[in-house]
Amino acid sequence: MARKKKSNSSEPPTVAVIGLGYVGLPLALEFARAGCRVIGLDIDAAKTEQLRKGSCYLKHVDASGLKSLVESDRFDPTTDWKRLRQAQAVIICVPTPVNEAREPDLQYIVKTSREISRYLERGQLVVLESTTYPGTTEEEVLPLLEESGLRCPARAEADGPAPDFYLAFSPERIDPGNTRFALREIPKVVGGVNPASTERAQRLYEHIFDKVVPVSSTRVAEMTKLLENIYRAVNIALVNELKLICQRMGIDIWEVIDAAATKPFGFTPFYPGPGLGGHCIPIDPFYLAWKVRQYDMTTRFVELAGEINTAMPYHVVQTVADALNDQGKAVKGARILVLGVAYKKDIDDIRESPALRIMQLLVERGAEIAYNDPHVPQLARTRKYDFSHLRSVPLEGESLRSYDCAILVTDHSAYDLTQIVRNARLLIDTRNATRRVECSGARIIR
Ligand SMILES: NC(=O)c1ccc[n+]([C@@H]2O[C@H](COP(=O)([O-])OP(=O)(O)OC[C@H]3O[C@@H](n4cnc5c(N)ncnc54)[C@H](O)[C@@H]3O)[C@@H](O)[C@H]2O)c1
Repeated sequence: MARKKKSNSSEPPTVAVIGLGYVGLPLALEFARAGCRVIGLDIDAAKTEQLRKGSCYLKHVDASGLKSLVESDRFDPTTDWKRLRQAQAVIICVPTPVNEAREPDLQYIVKTSREISRYLERGQLVVLESTTYPGTTEEEVLPLLEESGLRCPARAEADGPAPDFYLAFSPERIDPGNTRFALREIPKVVGGVNPASTERAQRLYEHIFDKVVPVSSTRVAEMTKLLENIYRAVNIALVNELKLICQRMGIDIWEVIDAAATKPFGFTPFYPGPGLGGHCIPIDPFYLAWKVRQYDMTTRFVELAGEINTAMPYHVVQTVADALNDQGKAVKGARILVLGVAYKKDIDDIRESPALRIMQLLVERGAEIAYNDPHVPQLARTRKYDFSHLRSVPLEGESLRSYDCAILVTDHSAYDLTQIVRNARLLIDTRNATRRVECSGARIIR
């Protein structure tokens, strides 16, 4: 099962990964497959129990070999923090949400850092992977770890005395559902609080990544992740705005993007949609927005992109209302089917999904809502929405005909678009997924 070690000639270390979610679990399994001993720590005992039985709760995580890795003690899921003492490296992958006021909520990082400091050992490397604002590792994590009595001087000279422990930040670039790039093929950026920490982190990740990219500080590494996500948020907002403009002007934005994408340099295509979703792109930019206020500055691009992207679900609902109105119908009392509730195609993650916002807005207007999603058989309650009474309805045969309107929010590959186009009485296609489907006579709005 163990994969051959790559450029790193050192012995595989024992690694503790804290937070066994979308980020931590694949990382832990990758280290275990590469021959490292991995202690997987989570506060959720139900998760560690399930993993101990060799079964995975995340559908889109490559859990190949999980059972044998657990049985051979290569991967050891636990809730026992004392086990941290056995690790040479500790990687933090806990959530970094925003609170109601859209400000960073660092409580998970703080709690985890406090726990680590109780068991921190001389010579250990700690790496933060949770997405956060520049400065977090040095300003928040480092002081908490130093409560242990051990020291890791920030920006210490490379040839100075060795720190008691090592600390770095390394952004996670995982793209759930993306089968084009294996985890190890995505270059890993690392930045330590001092050169010795950067070097340790680089050596650690060379056990599982083909390419590790060291940068000069934790702040650079933290900002790298935010740049990547803000770049996406801003470009998606740009095409979303241009979509509305093109719609008013009678121009097909999709055709425009395809034409522009033929330019071999200087243009990267982004596509309009029903709004942003997921744990990263709608949230991470607010981490920077909050931090820069301390520098008497504002993030105007972030704010503007947020404003445009947040308005997209409202635009979808208005499109539904207008289309029903054209048929002499009202939203109130209309039977509306949402196709796809996951925030993006081919995954089961509903965090921050625009589908939920659209459903909520339609319910507020008196619509009767149902949904179908091949990856989400039942909706769990989220912090903002409670659709836990809904189950995914079947899409068989002509059942679509019983709805006044269907909204394609997430273009899962499993959808039979020809069937959908043939049977929907009115289809709002927010992803332009049906563009190549023969649709004579069908009422489709893109
Ligand atoms: N999901 C992604 O696609 C993605 C991509 C890049 C970066 N990130 C970032 O990675 C971080 C983790 O995200 P995720 O999607 O894996 O979250 P997640 O919610 O899937 O997993 C987090 C895990 O941490 C556990 N946890 C919470 N508090 C804990 C604590 N105090 N101690 C131990 N375990 C604890 C939870 O039980 C859960 O299993 C976030 O900062 C996120 O922004 C996520």
